[in-house]
Amino acid sequence: MSVDTVVTNGTLVSSSGTVDGGVAIADGTIVAVGDESHLPAAAETVDAGGRLVMPGIVDPHVHFDGPNPLFDGPRETYEAGSEAAALGGVTTVIDFAWQGATRDGADGRRGTLRDGIAYQKRTADESLIDYGLHGTITREDPDLFAELPAIVDDGVTSFKLFTTYDWGVSNGFMGSVFDRLSELDAVAIVHTEDESVCAQRAAVLEEADRGDPTEYPASRPDYAEAMAADDALCLAVEAGCKYYGLHTSSEKAAAVIERYRREFGEELVRGETCTHYVTLDRSRYAEIGTLAQMAPPLRSSADVDALFESLSRDDLDVVSTDHVAYRRDEKEADDWWDSPYGVNGLQHSLPVFFDEAVHRRGHSPSSVVRAMAARPARLFGLEEKGTLEPGTDADLVVFDPAAQYAISAEDNASEADYSIYEGRSVRGTVVHTMVRGEFVVRDGRVVGDPGYGEFVARTRPDWQR
Ligand code: URP
Ligand code: ZN
Repeated sequence: MSVDTVVTNGTLVSSSGTVDGGVAIADGTIVAVGDESHLPAAAETVDAGGRLVMPGIVDPHVHFDGPNPLFDGPRETYEAGSEAAALGGVTTVIDFAWQGATRDGADGRRGTLRDGIAYQKRTADESLIDYGLHGTITREDPDLFAELPAIVDDGVTSFKLFTTYDWGVSNGFMGSVFDRLSELDAVAIVHTEDESVCAQRAAVLEEADRGDPTEYPASRPDYAEAMAADDALCLAVEAGCKYYGLHTSSEKAAAVIERYRREFGEELVRGETCTHYVTLDRSRYAEIGTLAQMAPPLRSSADVDALFESLSRDDLDVVSTDHVAYRRDEKEADDWWDSPYGVNGLQHSLPVFFDEAVHRRGHSPSSVVRAMAARPARLFGLEEKGTLEPGTDADLVVFDPAAQYAISAEDNASEADYSIYEGRSVRGTVVHTMVRGEFVVRDGRVVGDPGYGEFVARTRPDWQR
């Protein structure tokens, strides 16, 4: 038998360990891995040069085409966003389809979740890499419940709710959504910050004219994050609904997730943090001001350490980016309350997290694969992704763990013209990225075609496995 491609001379990194060898690929699928003497002949041989060969990164939390089209947020085109992703070794993203939100007509305040999904799939036509969608619920509209079964059948198997912002929902409505998601065996993903606490803290700071960006974290305190997580988790476990805590930023919120997870099991309770919460702390606000403004905010260095501990203990599962592509002119402001939430970090997330986890803190490359590829794929029903197992999609990243570079926004593929990691020197760089056996990045340059990426219909994930 002859195959299309073999990647040779690599250190294969799985979620459980590393082994020297290669990967054979036919028709976009991994057909064999391991000892090269047992791999078939191939039309093309790619020499990994002794570097790491990992499953492609799966980022389950990106905002392309704007974090909130309801209010005409910034626009990360799929072409730019997926280029940034590919340069960062990301082969699949899960983006958000907002209830009723389209940029081409439908009224975001009345339209359906189906409208939002159809819109997001159209705009994703230009993606270089594969993508899935979360449904985002923004209104307490009971008509939603009739829509959900068919949406889940069509492969959108997770749904986002907010406890904050104008489109946050009440605990009562959230409980009803959890009941329905539980019946459908779907996943609830929740942004948890207590709205009234944040509004009150923000008002106190504004009243005192404390607009310096270093004051921003006090407007959205860690206990507000923990309080809302407690409420949401309480409702989720009552409903028997699979719950995934989004962008956990603090030790207090992680502790709440951990408590419920210990009591109700990982078959119901999971959580993520983001690259910026485990690699930066609130001192970044003194350095780059509102360019670092996201919600929840960056916390203390003790929180950073605690989040790493949670990842090590498997109390948090995933590291995502929550990528948002505002431009510098939209972000920069003298007073923090004049700057929108959300930061750009997708292109450098893998190198930044790898450098911090492996080189600075002594964790294994496998732990990076677990948090950034294997677990997000498994928790969100991406059966063919996040693994080097034969029979799955040949989504690979060849990663040089030793090559050092300084992050500069000049290299941004994203529509964002700054980087939250600007100036950071990291060891580890993406050399090649392959999606379903095709190069989308080769030798650090984008070679993929817009439109190659496909929508991935996700299964209802089984968290017992
Ligand atoms: O600051 C953030 N996280 N922006 C993106 C929208 C959200 O809050 O999830
Ligand atoms: Zn959020």
